[in-house]
Amino acid sequence: MILILIQVFHYNEAKRRLRWDCFDCQMGPQYTDRMTCQIGGTRRTLLNVELKLLTELDQIKVYIKISTRFKSSTSYRKFFDITFDGCRVISDMDHGTMASNVFNAVVKSSNQPRKCPIKEGSIYYHNISVEDALPMFVPSAQLFIQLDFYSRRQLYLNVSLRGEIIE
Ligand SMILES: *[C@@H]1O[C@H](CO)[C@@H](O)[C@H](O)[C@H]1NC(C)=O
Ligand SMILES: *[C@@H]1O[C@H](CO)[C@@H](O)[C@H](O)[C@H]1NC(C)=O
Repeated sequence: MILILIQVFHYNEAKRRLRWDCFDCQMGPQYTDRMTCQIGGTRRTLLNVELKLLTELDQIKVYIKISTRFKSSTSYRKFFDITFDGCRVISDMDHGTMASNVFNAVVKSSNQPRKCPIKEGSIYYHNISVEDALPMFVPSAQLFIQLDFYSRRQLYLNVSLRGEIIE
């Protein structure tokens, strides 16, 4: 009996999938002259970002808002939002939390500097996959994620992501 339960649990866990439908980013022209945000992988589960940074960035503040909806006919509702110090996160991310799992998934195949200021130059993030960091309690839903990045109080980057968590 317990064995069956364990198998059912693993089965469910393995079936928690994430598929991205739309990935957009807009960076102010004074900050970049080339930035691409693309969805990859056969299951559209990977995210790729490449940019050439033209100015040094310091005092980074990040705002994330995650909205969900359960049917296409309804509108998105805020699930949660948070503002944090980007410079602190890249230099001393705590380990073993859901946030650190997501962060590690983002920087795994990236040349992102690990401290501020972020110098001019090319930065890439390849094959970001947050699927494994999804906790089991996350419901199957359509997702809308907005990220705003500020440096010295100026908005320099907008990212929006739409996707779906599928059982
Ligand atoms: C970010 O989005 C807002 C509203 O959608 C827009 O007004 C602003 O210009 C955008 N910022 C950048 C850096 O693209
Ligand atoms: C990223 O994923 C694609 C498709 O799965 C693969 O072909 C490529 O080698 C991967 N690149 C890196 C840097 O992991």
